[in-house]
Amino acid sequence: MARALLVSLVSCLVAIQEARLISRCDLASVLHKEDLDGFEGYSLSDWLCLAFVESNFNLSKVNENADGSFDYGIFQINSHYWCNDYRSHSENICHEDCKELLSPNLLSTINCVKKIVSGAGGMKNWAAWRLHCAGRPLSYWMTGCYKG
Ligand SMILES: *[C@@H]1O[C@H](CO)[C@@H](O)[C@H](O)[C@H]1NC(C)=O
Repeated sequence: MARALLVSLVSCLVAIQEARLISRCDLASVLHKEDLDGFEGYSLSDWLCLAFVESNFNLSKVNENADGSFDYGIFQINSHYWCNDYRSHSENICHEDCKELLSPNLLSTINCVKKIVSGAGGMKNWAAWRLHCAGRPLSYWMTGCYKG
């Protein structure tokens, strides 16, 4: 009895963990619906590559930086500039609570990344995109995905 309970508790926790990941094609579909395909000249493949190198498609990823700021969510948005996490200084350019950037519906995140890529440097604001995605063939990221 106790063991059965433990097993179901553990599988429940595993399910919660898994729910924090979004599949590549599901992400493409949400981004397309929210008009990111071609936004400021970046394709859905650019966004998929960015999500992969920043978070491995983990919607709830939080990472602490050496300067005490934190990066939030699938695109690892930084609390020093873009959102307020109430624990480190922030410019809060996106006018968002950083916790909102962990939401599985991605709406606050998309609102914020539109602001980020519209500014100077575009996607180069993400060092990992510059290093691993920029100037490379990226169309394979959309393999098997429908945009709709
Ligand atoms: C997603 O990120 C969270 C927070 O950084 C971490 O605890 C969790 O293990 C990650 N999940 C997966 C499936 O990698």
